[in-house]
Amino acid sequence: MGDLNDGLRTPGALMLGGGNPAAIPEMLDYFSETTRKMLSSGELVAAMANYDGPQGKDTFVKGLAALLKETYGWDISEKNISLTNGSQSAFFYLFNLLAGKQPDGSHKKILLPLAPEYIGYCDSGIQDDIFVSYKPEIELLDNQQFKYHVDFSQIEIDDSVAAICASRPTNPTGNLLTDEEVYKLDKLAKKHNIPLILDNAYGTPFPNIVFEHATPFWNDNTILCMSLSKLGLPGVRCGIVIANEEITQALTNINGIIGLAPGSIGPTIAQHMIESNDLLRLSDDVIKPFYQQKSAQAISLLQSAIPDPRFRIHKPEGAIFLWLWFDELPITTMELYQRLKARGVLIVPGEYFFFGQQEKEWQHSKQCLRMNYVQNDEDMQNGIKIIAEEVIKAYS
Ligand SMILES: Cc1ncc(COP(=O)(O)O)c(C=O)c1O
Repeated sequence: MGDLNDGLRTPGALMLGGGNPAAIPEMLDYFSETTRKMLSSGELVAAMANYDGPQGKDTFVKGLAALLKETYGWDISEKNISLTNGSQSAFFYLFNLLAGKQPDGSHKKILLPLAPEYIGYCDSGIQDDIFVSYKPEIELLDNQQFKYHVDFSQIEIDDSVAAICASRPTNPTGNLLTDEEVYKLDKLAKKHNIPLILDNAYGTPFPNIVFEHATPFWNDNTILCMSLSKLGLPGVRCGIVIANEEITQALTNINGIIGLAPGSIGPTIAQHMIESNDLLRLSDDVIKPFYQQKSAQAISLLQSAIPDPRFRIHKPEGAIFLWLWFDELPITTMELYQRLKARGVLIVPGEYFFFGQQEKEWQHSKQCLRMNYVQNDEDMQNGIKIIAEEVIKAYS
């Protein structure tokens, strides 16, 4: 996080580390035009001049419930949706609501079935040690790619597990849990009477940064967390939690206690987008193809710059990152990160994404790194050139 701040202040830094969405020209034009209209209609000022209720803007909550019901046939209403100031705070609320020290003195954890997993969960426990995570199975694919799968044979659930949680598509890897994996996790969660939290920050139906088919999933034992951020609106800080009524009520109460009410501007813009049928249209026709093309371009640059057969890329199935694996790399990616930082390129070393592991040492976790591919073409080319030079130097 320090690098994100420092990098922003360092002119010329190539920021391939952070999770800011791309500045997609069509989306920026759309937001300018939409907010201009909303300003002249008075909607925007009304959003700024009033508190919403603690559950979040009710017109948006109702509009979204109707949209999801219509699109997917889910049995939901406005009683199943609450808003937060960014989905990051939703995870903080949920993890601390469900895990950590319990009234009976026991300590519960969130089970992450597939590490590497989103770094933003790592420090979100009020108490320490609230995660248990499992190493994946690695499938080697053609074209120097690979894919992680949940290793169900390892997963153990007892009374100490409060919930199962996974991001789909996954930050950092771009992995998309298969439908079969999600059904199995759902079954496991129900069997043990615990919720399944699915982090849909990049998923369908919006922002829909998903490049493979995956059936959208929700039932009343699922807590589906969404966000307006990767639609291109991280600054409005709007997270969306779709859950059963009990969880929705609990989150509403937490919102009231912590912040009175979630912010109103994001939901007002999003409601406008639902009413004008732009939310799903732009996700499908602008956002998804933009990222898919950027991802393919970055892969092609990387593969021609680093022809070494020990270098593989996780199959890009969604999200805004590429996960690079340098097998047998003689240095850790933490060291590689330092060398790249000295040359003005910021990436995130893989080690950080393996929190909650019981076995401490897994060489693979020190051989991977996350880079985003959202920067402009020139920065991507320059950043990849420097990464390639440092990797080739390290191998030799
Ligand atoms: C997987 C995942 N979940 C949640 C978040 C939190 O996003 P926000 O708080 O902007 O909604 C992010 C942000 O990058 C993310 O990558």
